[in-house]
Amino acid sequence: MKKVTLTTLLKRKNAGEKLVMSTAYSAIESRLCMNAGIDFMLVGDSVGMTHLGYANTLPVTMEDMLAHTSAVRRGAPEAFVVFDMPFMSYQESESQAMYNAGLAMKSTGADAVKLEGGAEYASLVRKMTGAGIPVMAHIGLMPQRVQVCGGYKIVGRDEESAAKVMQDALALQEAGAFAVVLECIPEALAQAVTDALDIPTVGIGSGKFCSGQVQVITDLLGLTDFCPKHAKRYLNGGQLISEALAAYAGEVRSGSFPAPENTFQ
Ligand code: KIV
Repeated sequence: MKKVTLTTLLKRKNAGEKLVMSTAYSAIESRLCMNAGIDFMLVGDSVGMTHLGYANTLPVTMEDMLAHTSAVRRGAPEAFVVFDMPFMSYQESESQAMYNAGLAMKSTGADAVKLEGGAEYASLVRKMTGAGIPVMAHIGLMPQRVQVCGGYKIVGRDEESAAKVMQDALALQEAGAFAVVLECIPEALAQAVTDALDIPTVGIGSGKFCSGQVQVITDLLGLTDFCPKHAKRYLNGGQLISEALAAYAGEVRSGSFPAPENTFQ
């Protein structure tokens, strides 16, 4: 398959096509996404909850992200892969951020990085893009700020916070971000931001007017008990997998597996 690049994605957006992004955390997931025609993949720090058993994204480390992103790249060499900068890998200083973003690009083969934050990160975004690191911005609900926000809440319902979302989006575009994730903002605000920007908006919980959508793969596949309002289960994967594993356990216990066709003589 032909390598998906930033040019491919921007051409699709400019041709009026919706961009489809899914998270992926392993080689098998990235292969499945590519086979399904997903446009690009995010190795989200949501891996902390989906695969590592944490309650939120805060404990996720650079080492975790490097390992998962490398696996995603191995599974789909032709994919456009975005490395999500984990909590406290870029917030301390611009030099820390540049070092970690460079490490992400060099050691995993990621095509871009994503970071949560508004206009206060414009200078960093400018520095990264200037150095050759494409940046996907992420505003609205920022899960890495869950402790200061006191939970996961819709952002931009009042005039002041809606204006801040708009200003952040414009500042990040001006700084060179190639796209911006809009997480959990009202649909009308997401539409206004999308109309105001030239770069694509990629929504999660922000309605249908964004240039594209991103969802967490374990939500799409029904692998978790809880499915957030903004997501949709396209497969009851958890139940199907449990049934398959129970069938395997039953056959081992009854002696019907392994059968002659599974056995070497
Ligand atoms: O980590 C993640 O999966 C994300 C998406 C929800 C955008 O940041």
